[in-house]
Amino acid sequence: MNGQCSFIDTRSISSEEVFDLFSTANQFRSSYESKGVFLHRGLAPQNKLAAFTFFESSTRTRMSFQTACYRLGIPVVSMDSLADTSIKKGESLLDTIFNVRAMNPEVLVVRCGQDLDLYELDKMLNIPIVNAGSGTVSHPTQALLDAYTIYREYGQVKDRRVLIVGDIEHSRVAYSNFQLLQKLGAKVAACGPPAFLPQEGVFPGVKFFHSLSEGLSWAEVCMVLRIQLERHDKSHLKLPSLATYHNEYGLTSEKLNILDKEGILMHPGPVNQGVELAPSTLRDKRSRILEQVENGVYVRAALMARVLGISTLEKSE
Ligand code: CP
Repeated sequence: MNGQCSFIDTRSISSEEVFDLFSTANQFRSSYESKGVFLHRGLAPQNKLAAFTFFESSTRTRMSFQTACYRLGIPVVSMDSLADTSIKKGESLLDTIFNVRAMNPEVLVVRCGQDLDLYELDKMLNIPIVNAGSGTVSHPTQALLDAYTIYREYGQVKDRRVLIVGDIEHSRVAYSNFQLLQKLGAKVAACGPPAFLPQEGVFPGVKFFHSLSEGLSWAEVCMVLRIQLERHDKSHLKLPSLATYHNEYGLTSEKLNILDKEGILMHPGPVNQGVELAPSTLRDKRSRILEQVENGVYVRAALMARVLGISTLEKSE
């Protein structure tokens, strides 16, 4: 995390900071489960406002950041839909952000495409920025919640064998996960058709599989990604038919049985059923897909508390 405590990618967070966040997330979880609150009443932050500017669609990330803020007592102002903003009248994304910034929130949570450089924005705004997904570049809070899900399952991330299957080339989730999981000591591999994989060597240490069965034989954790059709160059579509893709790389209950018997299935969502996942796999006892969503609230709450300098120390009543 940088000087003004922005969180823009997983490169800028140390493994110690990650485990501190996991510990705060665990604290929020146990406090919520036992007392129905994340924070002791006396610790609710005063005068902290979060502004959300989501320039791309989102269900999980936006709602879990909102839930996290509400549970911490941080009011949120948010654009509900681009169709209702003045971007539709020609205002630029940058001008939109400067105008939201002029309302003096204490933190800005941003989802954007490739057209915004969050590091440049961070230099201009003078308040912390949290990256809620940036083009094909990064999705660092997704990587945090994914690593937290693995950590809760196995008690550690180190040496876990994580296979990421699908459209890696166009996936911000994959890039942030490669960085963070390797930082935490996991063994990471990618699997997909050649057109969906980055050049070997772009991510040193990441193994490549072109056969799903071989990848599943190696893995403990299988993280499946959807095909990011909206990010493909439509003039050079390198996509096999969806049926061919499902036959070769779609995970079915039968293929899931190849996975280590202690293995788990993950997916960041949204899922395209019948393409990357057969519907039956969603109900499989190894699926942790909804746990990922729940974990996202605790992890994002821990991150927001950290970014806003909110004390989470327990006090006696
Ligand atoms: N995983 C994820 O980023 O989902 P949303 O696009 O729904 O936020």
